[in-house]
Amino acid sequence: MTAINGLDESFLQGVAGKRVLVRSDLNVPLDGATITDDGRIRASVPTIEALAAAGARVVVAAHLGRPKGEPDPAYSLAPVAARLGELLGRRVAFATDTVGTSAQETVAGLADGVVALLENVRFNAGETSKDDAERGAFADQLAALADVFVSDGFGVVHRKQASVYDVAQRLPHAMGGLVAAEIDVLRRLTVDPARPYVVVLGGSKVSDKLGVIDNLLGKADKLLIGGGMVFTFLKADGLEVGQSLLEEDQLDTVRAYQARAKELGVEIVLPTDIVVADSFGDEASARVVAASAIPAGTLGLDIGPESGKAFAAALADARTVFWNGPMGVFEQPAFADGTRAVAAALTEVDGLSVVGGGDSAAAVRSLGFDESAFGHISTGGGASLEYLEGKELPGITVLED
Ligand code: 3PG
Repeated sequence: MTAINGLDESFLQGVAGKRVLVRSDLNVPLDGATITDDGRIRASVPTIEALAAAGARVVVAAHLGRPKGEPDPAYSLAPVAARLGELLGRRVAFATDTVGTSAQETVAGLADGVVALLENVRFNAGETSKDDAERGAFADQLAALADVFVSDGFGVVHRKQASVYDVAQRLPHAMGGLVAAEIDVLRRLTVDPARPYVVVLGGSKVSDKLGVIDNLLGKADKLLIGGGMVFTFLKADGLEVGQSLLEEDQLDTVRAYQARAKELGVEIVLPTDIVVADSFGDEASARVVAASAIPAGTLGLDIGPESGKAFAAALADARTVFWNGPMGVFEQPAFADGTRAVAAALTEVDGLSVVGGGDSAAAVRSLGFDESAFGHISTGGGASLEYLEGKELPGITVLED
């Protein structure tokens, strides 16, 4: 079977003249109305393009941020519609509501091969409701706008939400090319990965990464830890961490991981030097200290240069790498070198290198790396972590029914 942008040709042949609802993840960072990283929009284009080229009337549904179930201009998808239009090289009709008059008229006015974007689905309380009936009622309204559903919002497939889950129960459905590509890569990380397999974890909280550490300890050969979460590891080793981020309630869990890693022969690599500052974001006071000598009044905001080199060395012979979470506050130059060192090392990997979504994907792009130097940059932060934790993703299982 041949595929176009990850969609079966036979499926595409059947969508001509049909209204196809595509759930994309267009949740991009905004500074006012300016999109600061359009990676998710670009990743969503191929599926939309293939459907439009096949003559479908494409109705894109997406969310932005976490509005409170009612319209909020700060979370409007209007800037995203404009960018999507630029990337597609064609006008994108924008409905100013999700399932109301504007959405209905916009969809009714679509010609074959034309694309529309609905306003933020989270402007409707039914989207994220925990109540099946409330979610179902909104899904009914969404389903009424289309004949076919294509699930392509990988970043949101771990959410049991109306436009991800319930709508698939109401319409003939297919997996989009982006979701298929993401799942394929994640499967390669979990089923018989080429070795050595090195996992790099950063970001602020250990508690966000517990499930993934738990599951990957049994699979990876080395675990490199940086970012805000590292201070809980250093403290668990008996070191003082000054004012650095610390999750006291996770110390025992971290010690248990260290013991299990030892049993399994998995090497946990921690930084030996740290870039500290006198207060959060204070670049003027940034300096490098040994990880064993973090001054009491300071806080760690990046891994140090020796650690950057050690992490790169630990990645040098890797055949499979998964990286999630920046090593420091990469948005500020004084605290970006650790993240830069890890990103650079990933570009040298002779094998599969995967950058888990969210902050690390944004970091790679904002630090100016060429995306094509990485094996795969995921669009899903939470979704890829939950997959690697071994959890069921509702937005995927629903497609199998
Ligand atoms: C993300 O940013 O990870 C996805 O778009 C999901 O967003 P959410 O965490 O608000 O559901």
